[in-house]
Amino acid sequence: MELPVVDDTGIWNAWMTMLNVPAISASLELGIFESLNTEPASAIDLARRLGYQERAMKALLPVLCHLGFLNDYNGAWQLSPMARQYMLEDSAFFWGGVFRREGRMLVRHKLLIETITGKREKHEGRDRPAESWESGQVDMAMAREITAFMHSQSMAAAVGMTHSADFSKISRVLDVGGGSGCFMIALAQALPDIRCTIMELPSICELAREYIAEGGVSDRVDTVSVDMFREKWPAGYDAHFFSNIFHDWSFNTCRELAKSSFEALEPGGKILLHEMLLHDSGHSPYPAINFSLLMAIGTLGQQFTLPQLEDILQSAGFVNVSSLNTYGYYSIVSAEKPA
Ligand SMILES: C[S@@+](CC[C@H](N)C(=O)[O-])C[C@H]1O[C@@H](n2cnc3c(N)ncnc32)[C@H](O)[C@@H]1O
Repeated sequence: MELPVVDDTGIWNAWMTMLNVPAISASLELGIFESLNTEPASAIDLARRLGYQERAMKALLPVLCHLGFLNDYNGAWQLSPMARQYMLEDSAFFWGGVFRREGRMLVRHKLLIETITGKREKHEGRDRPAESWESGQVDMAMAREITAFMHSQSMAAAVGMTHSADFSKISRVLDVGGGSGCFMIALAQALPDIRCTIMELPSICELAREYIAEGGVSDRVDTVSVDMFREKWPAGYDAHFFSNIFHDWSFNTCRELAKSSFEALEPGGKILLHEMLLHDSGHSPYPAINFSLLMAIGTLGQQFTLPQLEDILQSAGFVNVSSLNTYGYYSIVSAEKPA
């Protein structure tokens, strides 16, 4: 498939703005500006001081910094002059009237408050897919919605990857949590000899087969229904590909996934992690920081820095970790199982 004529970075920039207002309105409601005005703090110290969730605070504060409300001063977040002027109750120029009203009208404001405080209500909707993924049970309505969502989000990156990453020495790829199969469809269309398998939950396998048939590669891309946490992984693959999988889970769960991959891979095989990386500080770039906040709200994960992924991979036994920017904001972090 040809590359899109324009890359998708502009779409990501536009989409991720959806979290800007909730980040401000939730921070106001939860006293985050007032607390940082009293005393600057790291995300962990602020979470402890206010009794909030550390993962959520680590994801939220870089977004407020990017928006110009905070500065990082030697590892402690402090209010910027703009925040002191407009985000504090006793300021004559307080914008609370606007952001309190905006917050009341936004679903993501409510979800973010619940994420930060850890007091989650049961939702009827499909706001937190990781709750179904954890149980390994995804009904067909949820599967259809999330798979279509991921397909739109990933298709350009999938085609982009085939133009930048070198798969020429790989013959059989297992795409763990492959969703619609878009990455393996693009790969099979680009490389006539490669064989690929989408490893997914049963309902998603059913949908992936439709996408694969539509892509015209059913002869070389198949599916296998395996719960990656509860069932044995198939053998015989020289590469395991994970796109947007590690960012759904905690560091410990990612270590377990890396270990399962290491055990199932052929000696000399490769693990490939397709993720939108954070810079080493963890505080940039936009839109990866907003994406990380979205992961805090909807999943058990976060975006990673390269050193964090390197640590996870090495702890499972992988060697020769390297990273390549493949398309738009996405990179592949790869490593090898020793031969
Ligand atoms: C964020 S989506 C990524 C989809 C695709 N890799 C992409 O980047 O477009 C996460 C995928 O992991 C799959 N998944 C979640 N839990 C799983 C499990 N226990 N076993 C297998 N797949 C799982 C979901 O069904 C979903 O398709």
